[in-house]
Amino acid sequence: MSSLSVEFAGVTFKNPLVLASGTCGFGREYAEIFDIKRLGGLASKGLTLNARAGNEGLRIWETNSGIMNSVGLENPGVRAFIERDLDWVNGLGVVNIVNLGGHSIEDYIEGVRLLNSVKLDILELNISCPNVKAGGMNFGVKTELAREVVRKIRATCKHKLSVKLSPNAEDIVALARACEEEGADGISLVNTFLAMAIDLEGRKPVFGNTYAGLSGPAIKPIALRMVHQVAHSVKIPVMGMGGVVSWRDAIEFIMAGASIVQIGTGNFIKPDISLDIIDGIEAYLDAEGIGSVSEIRGIV
Ligand SMILES: Cc1cc2nc3c(=O)[nH]c(=O)nc-3n(C[C@H](O)[C@H](O)[C@H](O)COP(=O)(O)O)c2cc1C
Repeated sequence: MSSLSVEFAGVTFKNPLVLASGTCGFGREYAEIFDIKRLGGLASKGLTLNARAGNEGLRIWETNSGIMNSVGLENPGVRAFIERDLDWVNGLGVVNIVNLGGHSIEDYIEGVRLLNSVKLDILELNISCPNVKAGGMNFGVKTELAREVVRKIRATCKHKLSVKLSPNAEDIVALARACEEEGADGISLVNTFLAMAIDLEGRKPVFGNTYAGLSGPAIKPIALRMVHQVAHSVKIPVMGMGGVVSWRDAIEFIMAGASIVQIGTGNFIKPDISLDIIDGIEAYLDAEGIGSVSEIRGIV
């Protein structure tokens, strides 16, 4: 039998499959449907320092081969997560990745401080949220803004830190390198692509915020290209994602250089799709006589 086990920044995953942030809550609903203990890891819904109600109006819109979402980071806040969900997730025996968003550097730092005092495996820093204090600019778009936020968070954060990049970045490779230089332990990419849909009858955008985030198979070839570029430009490990819905997709991301593969929109197509993908990767490795998943990482 081939080994599916993977090391990421010193953390051992029993297999490379992780449920992506915002598509699995904190895992409780999926646990009622399938055995989530078989997963390599779980990335929590994006937390913010304080609870957020999220956006008004339509939140999900189906596109050809994908979805657009405008959830607006609805979440109970870091403190409520620690009180209600953290122990439960830690008890699953999967790698516990806590995703943290923020609207100012101060909010990020305060959230990181609260999380410093608890047990978790990896802090996934989502730098793709609108930075209200910098006039709506995203931390994850401008390399130098990203550098500043990662530097400050690295100085505070006691946990392993994977920075989640936006595909809307001005220069994805330069931005990933800046994160590495500032001490990130890993890179997660991609988040959703800024996109738009129009309601013809209403003669207005479908979403209240006009633009929303596109995910799913529609973005896969672009996400794969970005993962390939970043994985070949940094030494720290990469969690790749974007439109993975089959074991073949997952193997493509691994061959492009990803150590871990996250599944987002695929969970909405089939909640236990990640188990099919784990089984498919294992069967592929066995059939090809490949001893471990790391043997094919980055070979393309
Ligand atoms: C409904 C929805 C909510 C999301 N919420 C978050 C979030 O809170 N934090 C985050 O970092 N990414 C969030 N994402 C982005 C996903 O984690 C993932 O990066 C993206 O959807 C690409 O992967 P996919 O094509 O497999 O969905 C969300 C995606 C969707 C579809």
